[in-house]
Amino acid sequence: MTAMSQADVSAEIGAIESAYQRSGAEETQPRLDYAPYRSSLLRHPTKDLHHADPEGVELWTPCFGERDVNPLESDLTIQHSGTPIGERMVVAGRVVDGDGRPVRRQLIEIWQANAGGRYIHKSDQHPSPIDPNFTGVGRCLTDDEGCYRFTTIKPGPYPWRNHHNAWRPAHIHFSLFGTEFTQRMITQMYFPGDPLFAMDPIFQSVTDQKARDRLVAAYDHDLTTHEWATGYRWDIVLTGTGRTPMEHTESPENPDSGADHR
Ligand SMILES: [Fe+2]
Repeated sequence: MTAMSQADVSAEIGAIESAYQRSGAEETQPRLDYAPYRSSLLRHPTKDLHHADPEGVELWTPCFGERDVNPLESDLTIQHSGTPIGERMVVAGRVVDGDGRPVRRQLIEIWQANAGGRYIHKSDQHPSPIDPNFTGVGRCLTDDEGCYRFTTIKPGPYPWRNHHNAWRPAHIHFSLFGTEFTQRMITQMYFPGDPLFAMDPIFQSVTDQKARDRLVAAYDHDLTTHEWATGYRWDIVLTGTGRTPMEHTESPENPDSGADHR
């Protein structure tokens, strides 16, 4: 093959220039497909960029560093001078995206009632005792595998004023961030076999059974520890068709709302 001369290349350049001038269009970026640039012909992209789901992409970026959260904050049973009453339990799992990839360094916050179903809040005055050794709030970061782990006390069911004799199934509230504070996601984790499921309008507001099932933790005997704590496993999927149902609200459950307290 005879090498192109500069004259040949210059002629091509000129022809393209003339065509561009006639087109009246304005281009501000280099053309990727530019024949005179011979060595680029097999190297430049020939297809449009693939537009990935921005939500999934954003979830890859760490939001918090190791120094932002003390590991002790994941143990809700050591926040006071004494041991809280109730069933000590571990809840652990993974936070993943829709393709099963770990979501690392994500801040997970939880809040819950005590073993008697009582929150420490002025709007929760139902006749069940406060536990002076249990506040019911904790947080942790996911690790490199997207794993989280909390030690806590199994919460009790509690009444609320949605309707007469309304009781919430036992649950733990979870809040997660993506990469930005505006991406806060809030949901509730339930316990397997709770007899209140069928009666709870919040649980039933997730109308698909498979989706509801994704809110229920599994008892895991491998996570249970000898003479210490029971174990429950609950994975959280942030995107995709198998995603964990999230509440529509952008703000956490607001105990100030009185009768709406849940
Ligand atoms: Fe609650």
